[in-house]
Amino acid sequence: MATPPLRTAVAMAATEFGDPGKVLAPLTVDIPAPGPRQVVVQVRAAGVNPIDGKITRGLFGADPATLPRRIGSEAAGIVTAVGDGARYFAPDEADRREICVGDEVIVYRAVGGYAQALLADDSAVHAKPAALDFPVAAGLLLTGVTAADLIGAVAVAADDTVVVHGGAGAVGSIAVQLALRLGADVVATAAPRNHEFLERLGAVPVVYGDGLAERIRDASVGPVTVALDTVGTDEAVDSSLALGVPPTRIASIAAFQRADDGIVLLDGSGAEGKRRRAEAIAGLIADATSGDLIVEIAKTFPLTQAGAALDELAGPHPRGKFVLLP
Ligand SMILES: NC(=O)c1ccc[n+]([C@@H]2O[C@H](COP(=O)([O-])OP(=O)(O)OC[C@H]3O[C@@H](n4cnc5c(N)ncnc54)[C@H](OP(=O)(O)O)[C@@H]3O)[C@@H](O)[C@H]2O)c1
Repeated sequence: MATPPLRTAVAMAATEFGDPGKVLAPLTVDIPAPGPRQVVVQVRAAGVNPIDGKITRGLFGADPATLPRRIGSEAAGIVTAVGDGARYFAPDEADRREICVGDEVIVYRAVGGYAQALLADDSAVHAKPAALDFPVAAGLLLTGVTAADLIGAVAVAADDTVVVHGGAGAVGSIAVQLALRLGADVVATAAPRNHEFLERLGAVPVVYGDGLAERIRDASVGPVTVALDTVGTDEAVDSSLALGVPPTRIASIAAFQRADDGIVLLDGSGAEGKRRRAEAIAGLIADATSGDLIVEIAKTFPLTQAGAALDELAGPHPRGKFVLLP
């Protein structure tokens, strides 16, 4: 028998702006009936991302009037209620299929994904294949579309030699795989404990830190032509420039302090970035389901441990996605 839909749900929310472990607290929230083109999803897993910690710390605005603020950018679960005309996201409007109660779905971008249930606009709802585990589904899309944006923004191609800064991270490990699939040679920076993983993917691992540009040069087969930065340190940008990569082929999702260098900064805004990210979704889901794309889960946490998960993610942490299980 189908589980009856929840009328209220526990949701993790920032009660003030600060360190997630201190300020994220469980709230009991009502679950409204979905309006037109909305659905209610019972969450089975919620992906944990660094941006959730940055929002909680107030780095994207700290207006007290927005508190309590529900946190969580992506989730996967089961549809429990469907509003009028709700249809799955598709880049082409004509391809949008009807969403039904009982469907297994991914919600990205979610608003308030750290919850037992959430209300979502249908434009954020994607069909989850049954063979794709809920935790992987919940941790796939934010990092996946970002990696695809990095690759597309600088048009990585088979004749490129690419350095990926932070190649064992959640975004970096997908960027490494996408670049390799295009036929590029890939050097990737990571802590030594992650080198064997990068070798398994097919990349040449290099330790970050002093002397990075020389190590990358020694490790690469030819001149480095593209740098994809998922770390945002000056070292990542400076070493890329020192290797002679033109700023127009250095793409970063985190080095926003280096805008004056003329590098390509990506935050998902702008028509091109939105298009690249939207067009990547179906392929990411298909490849994660078939196993052609490796998405590791490092750890799962109970929903109420969201703050601890985000605090751990902000420092050195095990490789792979952190996922909350409501
Ligand atoms: N602009 C956007 O659209 C966008 C989208 C998604 C994410 N982001 C941002 O991108 C960053 C990465 O996100 P993520 O989810 O991939 O995080 P993540 O899984 O924590 O990966 C970050 C990786 O950086 C590596 N690292 C740490 N310190 C380093 C250093 N000094 N030099 C080189 N590498 C270092 C770590 O690798 P080791 O463990 O090997 O040390 C870690 O795995 C975050 O700041 C996030 O907010 C931006």
